[in-house]
Amino acid sequence: MTTVGIVGGTGPAGRGVAIRLASAGYDVALGSRDAQRAADVAAAMSPRGAGTVTGASNDDVATRDLVIIATPWDSAVATASALRDALRGKIVISMVNALTREGRELLPLYPPRGSMAAQLAFALPESILVGAFHHLPAAQMEDLDSGLDADVVIVGDDAPTRERVASMVDEMPGLRAIVAGSLSLASAVEAFTAVCISINIRHKAHSYVKLAGLTH
Ligand SMILES: NC(=O)c1ccc[n+]([C@@H]2O[C@H](COP(=O)([O-])OP(=O)(O)OC[C@H]3O[C@@H](n4cnc5c(N)ncnc54)[C@H](OP(=O)(O)O)[C@@H]3O)[C@@H](O)[C@H]2O)c1
Repeated sequence: MTTVGIVGGTGPAGRGVAIRLASAGYDVALGSRDAQRAADVAAAMSPRGAGTVTGASNDDVATRDLVIIATPWDSAVATASALRDALRGKIVISMVNALTREGRELLPLYPPRGSMAAQLAFALPESILVGAFHHLPAAQMEDLDSGLDADVVIVGDDAPTRERVASMVDEMPGLRAIVAGSLSLASAVEAFTAVCISINIRHKAHSYVKLAGLTH
């Protein structure tokens, strides 16, 4: 089975994806700037099912079959660029949102290429970039008993890769994959995260994205 590395995986976003991938049977490695920290974070997690969560350095987890970038937006390009050789020829998923807080709202920031996924695609020209997992609430992702029933919007320029990522997401408990289209849509996908979080702040809620009217 495909192995997965999560660069910056010690944060809530990476942990949430990791535990649900492991519950679907994947062996997942959380990456960190500090391998011991990643090992400690992974050891505290309790995935269910056949998969595992371990911890290692970002350099180490970038050698896995498929790699997810889960650092804050302002360190994503520099972190991924340093891993360019290890990421050559691989599917790289960006879940990175560039956001800034203003009062009770989160607002989207627009990187020069329109999205963080496009920034990473430019920084990693030998990798196949896909955007996914942007709208997921980390706390509910981490809690396998939260009853989460969320959609994951997937964008990317390579159609077979999009479908491969969608198949993986559909295996994760509580998630349904929705392929939206090309990487050009990542700008809108990432920006909508600001809307999701602002709604949750305003309504003191833990809502998430679920699209109506779709049948697989
Ligand atoms: N939180 C959510 O609900 C959620 C949902 C969907 C998408 N996202 C996106 O996923 C990404 C991660 O979110 P998060 O909430 O998990 O963020 P986070 O906790 O702030 O950061 C994740 C990890 O990135 C590493 N990191 C922090 N600063 C770094 C730097 N300057 N250089 C390299 N690595 C650094 C840290 O790991 P080490 O210290 O161990 O290296 C940290 O544990 C963000 O881009 C966010 O927009 C978040």
